[in-house]
Amino acid sequence: MKVDNGNDSMLQPVRVWMDGCFDMVHAGHANALRQFVLADITTNKGRPLTTEVERRRMISSIRWVDEVVEDIPFGTSTDLLDKHKCDFCVHGDEFATNGDGKDSYGEVKAAQRYIKCNRLDGISTTDIVERILQATTQVPNTHTTAYWKKAGSTGVSSFLTSTCLIHEFSEGNAPQPGDKVVYVDGAFDLFHAGHIDFLEKAAAEGDFLIVGLHPDTTVSSCGGSGNPVMNLHERTLSVLACKYVSDVIMGAPFVVTSELMKHFQVDVVCHGMTPTETGPNGEDPYREPKRLGKFRVIDSGSELTTKMIIERTVQNRLEFEERNTRKEAKERRIATHTQGLNSTFSQ
Ligand code: C5P
Repeated sequence: MKVDNGNDSMLQPVRVWMDGCFDMVHAGHANALRQFVLADITTNKGRPLTTEVERRRMISSIRWVDEVVEDIPFGTSTDLLDKHKCDFCVHGDEFATNGDGKDSYGEVKAAQRYIKCNRLDGISTTDIVERILQATTQVPNTHTTAYWKKAGSTGVSSFLTSTCLIHEFSEGNAPQPGDKVVYVDGAFDLFHAGHIDFLEKAAAEGDFLIVGLHPDTTVSSCGGSGNPVMNLHERTLSVLACKYVSDVIMGAPFVVTSELMKHFQVDVVCHGMTPTETGPNGEDPYREPKRLGKFRVIDSGSELTTKMIIERTVQNRLEFEERNTRKEAKERRIATHTQGLNSTFSQ
């Protein structure tokens, strides 16, 4: 991040610290990191759904993150900022407390080394967990397999985005003459570390990686009712925030046609090792790229799938339900009693 120090016209580089649990990294996390640049991970918010390795992988793949630091203490001190040579600490505009009820950022606020960033309303880990819990039930006596509850329901959120936000997330460059264009497609629901591993390898096949995101209705008809958990807008922002991705097609067709390849000047189409869904009439969506010798299978090296993340959530249903209830009550108390308390230093 660069800021004008007011003394001359030169922009000075500034190191910014942002800490958090970053569980199931979503567009809200990416949006906060977009505004600033250095991230930290802590696990003190209860059991996360994603492992430390997965969260590190997710956060470090976000295009605005320069460095990731793990195992940091809960409660951010000026000593911690100094240790990591950071000028400022950034946090969303909700009030955060330590175990003792004190403001987690009190010390850095008092030292005027705190910057507030705007939260992206409508997406949070709590909300995503809630969506999964609402839409699923467990197979009796197994505690391992998730059912989608309501036939016909997509379970998808009504989160809306604007072209302005998409513009902020987007790299904004077209392929340069001579660039080898790689195309991949899929749901990319609950964007996870397996997707990142796949995208990194797909990007290495060329110079410009386009991700075609299937519309919610397609994902629902392939994955079953309840899918996707994240709607097309949310999936778009998560995928755009990934540093390996050059562009996203919002609502890509299920079948990769020669027209699509011609239009986007696609040189190679990649798919991972997960089974390829077939169309309603059993058609292979990659028939055309295969016929043209432009199809590659990529081994991401990761076994993680969206279904596994849903199943982890369902396996911990009770724990998450209690946690969400506690968190909602706390948020309500804070909203009622601490309005205006969170006086912040902002740019
Ligand atoms: O399942 P979904 O449509 O989200 O997958 C998008 C792409 O990511 C597919 O090509 C899939 O094979 C790939 N993938 C992968 N390794 C994983 C998860 C997904 O290669 N662990």
